[in-house]
Amino acid sequence: MKEMLEKIKAEAAAKLSEENADLEAIRVQYLGKKGELTQVLRGMGQLSAEERPIVGQMANDVRAYIENLIEEKKASAASAAMAKKLLDETVDVTMPVEPVTVGSRHPLSQVQTELEDIFIGLGFEIVEGPEVEYDYYNFQALNIPENHPARDTQDTFYITDNILLRSQTSPMQIRAMEQKKPPLRIISPGRVYRSDAVDATHSPLFHQLEGLVVDKGITMGDLKGTLELFAKKMFGDDTKIRFRPHHFPFTEPSAEVDVSCFVCGGKGCSLCKGEGWIEILGAGMVHPNVLRGCGIDPEVYSGFAFGLGIERIVMRKYNIDDMRLLYENDVRFLKQLG
Ligand code: DAH
Repeated sequence: MKEMLEKIKAEAAAKLSEENADLEAIRVQYLGKKGELTQVLRGMGQLSAEERPIVGQMANDVRAYIENLIEEKKASAASAAMAKKLLDETVDVTMPVEPVTVGSRHPLSQVQTELEDIFIGLGFEIVEGPEVEYDYYNFQALNIPENHPARDTQDTFYITDNILLRSQTSPMQIRAMEQKKPPLRIISPGRVYRSDAVDATHSPLFHQLEGLVVDKGITMGDLKGTLELFAKKMFGDDTKIRFRPHHFPFTEPSAEVDVSCFVCGGKGCSLCKGEGWIEILGAGMVHPNVLRGCGIDPEVYSGFAFGLGIERIVMRKYNIDDMRLLYENDVRFLKQLG
């Protein structure tokens, strides 16, 4: 029996030393209920009384030996697995990381906010209105009756005969005067539409910002002072403004307003095309017909208005020569301005 026990011990040890030994199968084979060691122990009854404790002790030793070996194998397999896991999952903290790209606001939104901040600082209130507008607000109430030639320059998209996509933000002048009694100081930014073919300086959708002030005793001097302050804040303290006579049906007198070129300061450069001046907006004193149409007595009140194209300001500010770049959402372009 002793030899059998020795044999079991040696065999089990040999099996357990194999590379991919199946520990559970080996345990069952030798130590299980029907295992080889158990079989040997069953035969203990045939031993003499002297031999029995000796063989019993030996059998226990063999069992403990095999159990130990199995435990050791298990522990070393677990630590090998952990070592492999650690190696596989090693993070090289010195590797350069993928840059996290954070978006930025679109230049049109940035400039719109800048404009809003300037006028809020001057005491203006922001109002917003519909892009789908009545002919009445977009044209008639602005002193542009049917068949007026000014309609041709602002050909827009018609939904019905008297509902259209607004071609300018000026209808907000009328809506503001209908809703509030003077004194009134508002700006109104937003989208406008014209049925223009897309090219470097035209788009069927673009953005304007309208301004309107109505109170007792408002003069052209107030208009000039306001626009000069605005121009200095927007384009720098040295900026000068210039008024050129113009015609808009809803203002009288009307002007186109230029700012001195903020690149060359007025000497003439590629941005201002050698002019020294850059046109930025239209403005004028609110026409008495417009005030009257809104129930405001032009003998008591007067006002000024102005309207500017936000794209135009963005393009001048960043020296962009093609308006389409602002709508194509090419991040390579937007990143340069963001
Ligand atoms: N609405 C005019 C346009 O789109 C711009 C404009 C000119 C607005 C003079 C005004 C203004 O308020 O007084 O061409």
